[in-house]
Amino acid sequence: MKKLTAIAALPLLAAPAFAQVTGDAAAGESVFSQCQSCHVVENEAGEIVAGRNSRTGPNLYGVALRQAGSLDTYDRYSDSMVEAGEQGMVWDEANFVPYVQDPTGHLREVLDSRRARGAMSYRLRDEQEAYDVYAYLVSIGPELTEEQQGFLMDASEMPAGGDS
Ligand code: HEC
Repeated sequence: MKKLTAIAALPLLAAPAFAQVTGDAAAGESVFSQCQSCHVVENEAGEIVAGRNSRTGPNLYGVALRQAGSLDTYDRYSDSMVEAGEQGMVWDEANFVPYVQDPTGHLREVLDSRRARGAMSYRLRDEQEAYDVYAYLVSIGPELTEEQQGFLMDASEMPAGGDS
């Protein structure tokens, strides 16, 4: 839970809207049941933290602030997702929330192309649920590295940050 405090505290210093985690992690846990048919949350030690080991979609462990489409262990990303990541899209709350409500629509907006198409065939209908499941994934994710904290602090100057 340490990392959650860190993320929640940083916006007070840096105040970029996208560095915030505003959802309710406890509520997000049950929202994740809508994701687990395709996504697992598996940590570096290979322990399944959430989900039922489905690999249809990428592992969502550490998805917060990860560059979109960048996971080595997943080889079925759409071209649009990889391109969005290469253009600097990271999974901050501001990208995550609209994406899970309309995956292809969000990629079209980010890439400014009506031909963009995402591979995730699921839409979360409720916006609050999107905020909550993001907070949940942050809460069960890894502790923030110094680099990530630096990213949060400098986010307004380096939107293409993050690691890969
Ligand atoms: C029907 C299967 C399916 C369901 C259900 C699903 N996803 Fe996905 N998800 C995918 C696939 C496939 C991708 C890869 C998309 C692409 O490459 O365009 C993906 C990608 C993602 C990504 C991008 C990850 C990365 O590494 O860049 C996030 C974030 C995400 N999903 C969140 C969610 C959340 C949250 C839910 C539940 C509300 C959910 N997904 C439900 C199949 C699914």
